[in-house]
Amino acid sequence: MSILSTNKLAKSYALGKASVPVLHDVTLSINAGEQVALVGPSGVGKSTLLHLLGALDRATSGEIICDGQEYSKLSSDDLAQLRSRKIGFVFQSHHLLPEFTALENVLMPAQLSRLADSNSETRARNLLERVGLGHRLSHRPGELSGGECQRVAVARALINSPAVVIADEPTGNLDGQAAKSVQELLLSLARENNTTLLIATHNLELARSMQRVLQVHLGNVSEDSSR
Ligand SMILES: Nc1ncnc2c1ncn2[C@@H]1O[C@H](COP(=O)(O)OP(=O)(O)OP(=O)(O)O)[C@@H](O)[C@H]1O
Ligand SMILES: [Mg+2]
Repeated sequence: MSILSTNKLAKSYALGKASVPVLHDVTLSINAGEQVALVGPSGVGKSTLLHLLGALDRATSGEIICDGQEYSKLSSDDLAQLRSRKIGFVFQSHHLLPEFTALENVLMPAQLSRLADSNSETRARNLLERVGLGHRLSHRPGELSGGECQRVAVARALINSPAVVIADEPTGNLDGQAAKSVQELLLSLARENNTTLLIATHNLELARSMQRVLQVHLGNVSEDSSR
């Protein structure tokens, strides 16, 4: 069953009077529980596509449907609710809030989406333990290493038990060992929770470890035929 799909999706950026076309005609469908890598050279439109799918930006034309809801039919408030309840996003750079502790950062999406309850803090603590940071709950991002911050960001993306986790080069800023541990965490947490996972990556080893690879090319997306 499809959890996330697009139909003739297009995106152009306005730059002064010019229009910069990036995505022309993207039609894809990702099934619930599937683990998908998104690959393609720098500048091809991977982040653009992930931001559209993650409801962080609006498409120029075409449809995006997550769990039966079509984005262009939703108000900004409803789209924000869908984003915080259904989608966890991991950015290349962790985007943690510097003045809050690891625990507070992980709890933030639960509070913003009004899904927080008496179990949320326990859940946040468990997630931080699961990512190996049970001993760093009250550290702020400036008191954590790059890899640790990215592991907090993974925990934060999972706090609302989203149907879909979207990660945009989540290990792009990390060295070998830290990158590997963040990748392995994302994959195993997604499997444990039957979460759909879509990761943009330049890391071919990571791409190969996913069930499916989608390639962005000339504004379109196709299955990687080399597999
Ligand atoms: N806000 C913007 N205004 C104008 N052009 C933009 C904007 N954002 C991105 N672009 C252009 O859109 C194209 C796609 O950018 P995008 O960030 O999606 O690429 P990418 O595949 O994620 O690249 P990378 O692998 O380097 O992260 C690029 O040519 C970029 O210059
Ligand atoms: Mg990018």
